[in-house]
Amino acid sequence: MSILFPPQDKPELIDGRYYYPPPQRLESVCLGTLPLGTRYCLSPLAKYTNLPFRRVVRGCGGLGLATCDLVNARALLAGSAKSLALIRTCETDTPFAAQIFGSEPEYLRDAAQFLEARGGIDVIDINMGCPVDHVTKNGAGARLMCNLSRSVELVQAVVEAVRLPVTVKMRLGWDETQLTAPRFAREFEQIGIRAVAIHGRTRSQGFTGSVDLSGIRKVVEAVANIPVIGNGDVRTIPDAARMLDRTGCQAVSIGRGALANPWIFRQLSQWEQTGWYDPPGNFEERLDLVRQQYQYHRELDGEEHGLTAYRRTVHWYLKAMRVRAGLRDRVQHARTGDEFRDALEAIRGEGPVEGSRTGILPELQVPVPAGPVERW
Ligand SMILES: Cc1cc2nc3c(=O)[nH]c(=O)nc-3n(C[C@H](O)[C@H](O)[C@H](O)COP(=O)(O)O)c2cc1C
Repeated sequence: MSILFPPQDKPELIDGRYYYPPPQRLESVCLGTLPLGTRYCLSPLAKYTNLPFRRVVRGCGGLGLATCDLVNARALLAGSAKSLALIRTCETDTPFAAQIFGSEPEYLRDAAQFLEARGGIDVIDINMGCPVDHVTKNGAGARLMCNLSRSVELVQAVVEAVRLPVTVKMRLGWDETQLTAPRFAREFEQIGIRAVAIHGRTRSQGFTGSVDLSGIRKVVEAVANIPVIGNGDVRTIPDAARMLDRTGCQAVSIGRGALANPWIFRQLSQWEQTGWYDPPGNFEERLDLVRQQYQYHRELDGEEHGLTAYRRTVHWYLKAMRVRAGLRDRVQHARTGDEFRDALEAIRGEGPVEGSRTGILPELQVPVPAGPVERW
């Protein structure tokens, strides 16, 4: 039974700031010897959690750790330009976890050593949660959760190969008949893993249903000393409060919620101190953020490729800003920096279709990939 969870459902808005009862004092979080500034982490989102996105989220404040999109260990070692692009980082992008996936211990081990030698990476994260068919059919991602000895062998190979803290991100198990996460987490802790992140769904659930907080709690209870990072469906401060309280996890990671609201990490870290926190960015501030991230993409990949890489993310930013569909399409179809800037200028001129330029905009839910996981 919960004793900490605050009885109220909604934060109160008083004089332009929110209040929601804060948690009881929580211990700070360390991954081995690496202390995190806050317990709020950015979950990897393939095609979104690139360096420009991580930079803007860090700029909004409150982020404890960011992880890049999953990187194929074998392709990385083969020098794939696409894989190397995913691990690009910069001085301010810290602490930074590089997430690798694969099913062969030697490749994972060598990829981890390669990343450590490259520098700029603070944590190696092993993916055991990816549900996508083309990853699981090769024995990687969530498929590893069906084979304890193989997974232990793989994790051990990585832990022994590097000095960096190694973490594992997993789901509750393959399906409801194989809820292996607690057992796996306990075994991984014994071989030197520094944290586990756990998305509270099984692989067969994909993104359907709701996150099983009691399943995450079982993982927390299974480990002795390492932090558990609870993940799934956290979009608001009450969602995070529930995650912390009902699971006993030490940290929380947020994926889609950060696309709708890149300020969520700052809000969470403010809330934890006193219960008071600022609203997310308003229309004008979000427009600045849209421009800023484009600038980062341009610096990294040039005008044209930068725009291509930015398209998916800017779509969600503009939806959250309540920009009308016709103008969002104009941004999607911009081929040059000038076209992009002109479209933003039109957006600035029109303002939001709902809410005001300087007030709090209505909340946005970012949907998940639809359809059976085999076809994603
Ligand atoms: C588009 C998309 C891409 C994702 N890519 C990854 C990934 O590369 N590695 C990973 O471990 N999880 C990945 N995930 C899972 C998320 O990290 C996270 O576990 C999941 O979305 C639940 O958290 P959320 O509700 O806060 O988004 C992805 C999820 C989505 C929706």
